[in-house]
Amino acid sequence: MEIIYTREALTRFRENCKNLNKTIGFVPTMGALHMGHISLVQQAKKNVDYTIASIFVNPTQFNNKEDFNNYPLTIDQDIKLLIQYGCDAVFIPSVEEIYGQKGYHPFTIPLGKLGNIFEGEKRPGHFDGVIEILSILFQLLKPEQVYMGLKDYQQVMVVEKLLKHIGFPIQLIKCATIRDEDGLAVSSRNKRLSPNERQIALNLYKALSEIKENYQKSEISILKKSYFNRLNKIEEIQVEYIDIVDSQTLKPLKSWNPIGKNIVLIAAFVGKVRLIDNLLF
Ligand code: PAF
Repeated sequence: MEIIYTREALTRFRENCKNLNKTIGFVPTMGALHMGHISLVQQAKKNVDYTIASIFVNPTQFNNKEDFNNYPLTIDQDIKLLIQYGCDAVFIPSVEEIYGQKGYHPFTIPLGKLGNIFEGEKRPGHFDGVIEILSILFQLLKPEQVYMGLKDYQQVMVVEKLLKHIGFPIQLIKCATIRDEDGLAVSSRNKRLSPNERQIALNLYKALSEIKENYQKSEISILKKSYFNRLNKIEEIQVEYIDIVDSQTLKPLKSWNPIGKNIVLIAAFVGKVRLIDNLLF
């Protein structure tokens, strides 16, 4: 696997691929890789000639300094895992390499309502940071496809909007959330949960599954309130939001949509670790 540290080397990688008429599939990550990331690599490998991941803990998308400082760094393990699963290359730039360019100006796009709800509301500036880093990476690498996980459902919608806005011909491949056997969505942040907290975190998935199973039997507002209260009664859990919305617009539902067009979104602290998850139904 080729390990690339600089913009110049990344551009050379891209030029080589283009000269050989080879397609590029891109898996952007912040490292601390898990099977969710690996499933993106595996899917990319099926569809493109070259799969390249990036590992960059992007400081501009953290609204909370503590979260940034505590973000797990497992670079040697990450590289081993990418080699094991046949990733062709990985881009591991420094912060200076990304943001230290002469005359650099942050770039963002208007997100409208999408930027002010759920993650946009609870993590001010987060999506601006995601847009900033991805627009730089897309510009440098110009992949044919980018692979992103639906656990970060709203982020996927933001990236869809970004690609439309900048007009790059990059196809966004939305990949299913990977779960541990007991249902917990895999996440780099799970590494920070104690064994007890990990067990408690299962209540989030349980709530989403129960809502999915029982949805037409209850009223939307009652369902939301009851699970918000139920989860908040658990000492280690503090729910930021649990909401059932339209899966295409994230707007509140007045009545149930047809199957496949409703989504329940949750963000909650388990101890000090903030987790998000969702379920489409
Ligand atoms: O989902 C992530 O890990 C990050 O937000 C991303 C897309 C790699 C941008 O830094």
